[in-house]
Amino acid sequence: MKPKTIALDGPAASGKSTVGLKIAKALNYLFFDTGVMYRAVAWAALNKGIDPKDEVAVTTLAEETPIDVRPASQNDGRTSDVLVNEQDITWQTRSPEVDANVSTVAAYAGVRAALSKQQRRIGERGNVVMVGRDIGTVVLPEADLKIYLDASAEERARRRYDEIIARGELADYTEILAKVKQRDHIDSTRDVAPLRPADDAVIVNSDKLDADQVFQMIMDMCA
Ligand code: CDP
Repeated sequence: MKPKTIALDGPAASGKSTVGLKIAKALNYLFFDTGVMYRAVAWAALNKGIDPKDEVAVTTLAEETPIDVRPASQNDGRTSDVLVNEQDITWQTRSPEVDANVSTVAAYAGVRAALSKQQRRIGERGNVVMVGRDIGTVVLPEADLKIYLDASAEERARRRYDEIIARGELADYTEILAKVKQRDHIDSTRDVAPLRPADDAVIVNSDKLDADQVFQMIMDMCA
């Protein structure tokens, strides 16, 4: 039977967004990348001059800041629009400063509680592909299909590198690899909702598969 809720988890740059968006389009489901909400909180903190290490201040900010994720309104490579206080901050959430601080704010229990609640509300409506780190384990433990998309840190860093170069920006592979590893470490060792596959998740390693092949594998599971 066709799954109504699909949880797609995995580490940074494992291809979740690319594949998740394709699946959502093919099934005519909502694509919801939950990582952008954590990125929005990190951006809002930096923008207000709040130290990302200040758990109390960041948590209050996450509880009080209206964050909205909407279907992409522009054809500039974005997978969705990200708004904070109605301001479009989609591309700001991809900055190196946000990259460097997002896992710190995402480890705070209060931040996670505030965001997971909103994510669950959207997920429970069904017809959704939800992408993140803890969707199958915490946000939607009842999801009909759970995929854990993995790849080696080297392969993921290479993909991130290619993405940045394709945007016409400068990139340093060694630095990207170090940052990917650092974010993996924070995400998988935190106390609350650490990155790990749910017991009933299907683990897909994409080291030797391109996005189309992963997409086909998952579509076959949806038939
Ligand atoms: O796109 P990329 O895989 O690099 O990261 P992302 O999905 O945008 O998520 C950014 C960060 O948010 C992750 O490194 C996690 O620290 C956090 N996150 C999380 O804790 N839980 C989620 N459900 C989604 C993201």
